[in-house]
Amino acid sequence: MIVATKVRLQAEQIKPKIGSRVLNTKDELLSGQLAEEINDLLERRGVLIFPMVRFTDAEQVAFTDTLGKFAKEIRGQDVFPITLDKKVNQEAAEYLKGSLFWHIDGTMNPVPIRGSILSSKVLPSWGGNTEFANTYAAYDDLPQARKDEIDGLRVVHSMWNTGLYHTPEPTLAQLDDWQSKGEVVLPLVWKHRSGRKSLVLGNTAARVVGLEPKESAKLLHGLREWATSEPYHYAHHWSVGDAVMWDNTGSLHRATPYDPDCGRLLHRTILQGDEPFA
Ligand SMILES: [Fe+2]
Repeated sequence: MIVATKVRLQAEQIKPKIGSRVLNTKDELLSGQLAEEINDLLERRGVLIFPMVRFTDAEQVAFTDTLGKFAKEIRGQDVFPITLDKKVNQEAAEYLKGSLFWHIDGTMNPVPIRGSILSSKVLPSWGGNTEFANTYAAYDDLPQARKDEIDGLRVVHSMWNTGLYHTPEPTLAQLDDWQSKGEVVLPLVWKHRSGRKSLVLGNTAARVVGLEPKESAKLLHGLREWATSEPYHYAHHWSVGDAVMWDNTGSLHRATPYDPDCGRLLHRTILQGDEPFA
């Protein structure tokens, strides 16, 4: 009689408060047997690295599908090319400039995506790391007085706030375009169904409702500085073939600057979210 052996998750920590490397083979990952453990690990660690796993697009889609509900990309594609090369992705090149600043994907959506998976296809000639910060761990480590102070605060988020990060002197037409995307008001502290809490920050966070502009800016920049400080921060230096997955509901991320003409290329797939901010 042949007895099928259960595949075991093989993972190692990168830093105490963020990041794990998953060392299973591609076949083991694609089998779906590890899906539950990978999802649990993702929520605890914020970001998972699959070193040199070399997913094809079809494999990356299949792997994403094992972990939850696979979601189509912005224009209905299965896989989104992340590049500043306008020949590959004309509109997105502008939009991706915002990705150089700390953010959560989908703060303007009622239900943000659960997570994303990136695969490296072409390395940059310089720069182009992807950085992550664990906003569960950063919240947990705040002094109790700070937690009490921010509990219940609400923050206005907008795309035009992001625009001003990368284009501080827009034309009026540009500003009108950004402002047409609207604004949302989100809790500063995300109280998850699990009972855990994380911080909702990033380049869309414009102002804290009810605070003077100076105090609001101090609070938002101070918390972002704290959440992205060394204990909660991991910078991924890419090798071609790496895949990286992050928990969008409990982390911030950004790319570091890179040569816009170098052809740097990542392929992204996304997991549908099922947890609204409030
Ligand atoms: Fe992003």
